[in-house]
Amino acid sequence: MMDLKKLYLIGTILLNLSILAVGAQPRKPVDVPFQRNYVPSWSADHIKYIKGGSSVDLVLDKISGTGFQSKNSYLFGHFSMRMKLVGGDSAGVVTAFYLSSQTNEHDEIDFEFLGNRTGQPYILQTNVFTGGKGDREQRIYLWFDPTKGFHDYGIIWNMDMLTFFVDNSPIRVFKNSKDLGVKYPFNQPMKLYSSLWEADDWATRGGLEKTNWANAPFIASYTSFHIDGCVASTPQEVQVCSTRGLKWWDQPAFKDLDGEQYRRLRWVRGKFTIYNYCSDKARYPTPPIECSRDRDV
Ligand SMILES: *[C@@H]1O[C@H](CO)[C@@H](O)[C@H](O)[C@H]1NC(C)=O
Repeated sequence: MMDLKKLYLIGTILLNLSILAVGAQPRKPVDVPFQRNYVPSWSADHIKYIKGGSSVDLVLDKISGTGFQSKNSYLFGHFSMRMKLVGGDSAGVVTAFYLSSQTNEHDEIDFEFLGNRTGQPYILQTNVFTGGKGDREQRIYLWFDPTKGFHDYGIIWNMDMLTFFVDNSPIRVFKNSKDLGVKYPFNQPMKLYSSLWEADDWATRGGLEKTNWANAPFIASYTSFHIDGCVASTPQEVQVCSTRGLKWWDQPAFKDLDGEQYRRLRWVRGKFTIYNYCSDKARYPTPPIECSRDRDV
């Protein structure tokens, strides 16, 4: 059993030390009501609106989970959500926030939060699908308790790279390695999705810990609903969104992380990473080609 309090304390101290020197940070998210950018996608009666939709609660009970999606499709941009995950005994409960194209060989960028028994740490699993192919899981513990307060989970997606952020700290990059023969999401618009459901066949300790329905309903809370993306619903819009240099996220500063951001990423990888497909020798005797460019090996 890990000493969670110690982990969170060390995490907070180290993060605060590094907060002074920052480079190309994403723009500050603009909080808007749920209805501005999102609609329910299933079991709408399991979404509770608070203060006119400035925040929402997703409810999972024995009958159903629920989910929502963005109204628009986007090609590149900055997307973030402030979330407070299911507290207490959340074993087997999964909360996801992701972008996905609605195509056959789909692109997808995932945050998946895997619940746990009371006092045991959540796992944040990330994955990237390009042209229908995923199998790029990374798993980390967080440096705070994600059930105690709202934290920001965001993506910057441009032609050069995907960056996953947790509270302004990069936790993962996936660079455009098209020149190395790796598909990159560059021409399929994506929508944002979020859902809360039960997956106790795999989520917690590989499926050993089952959901305890005596604790239902399980509730995950959302706020902020920030989207600053390039709307791409028509071929003309796709064309515009693909034109280089028009948007802030496509400026030179966002072509790569700066030194300070790489330092934070190394900190996450060194202290909090529990699985990285790039170093899974059983699965990939030689690391996938993007791994060295992403500095994962
Ligand atoms: C749950 O807690 C156990 C024990 O600390 C840990 O091994 C596991 O990684 C945690 N997270 C999940 C989602 O299984």
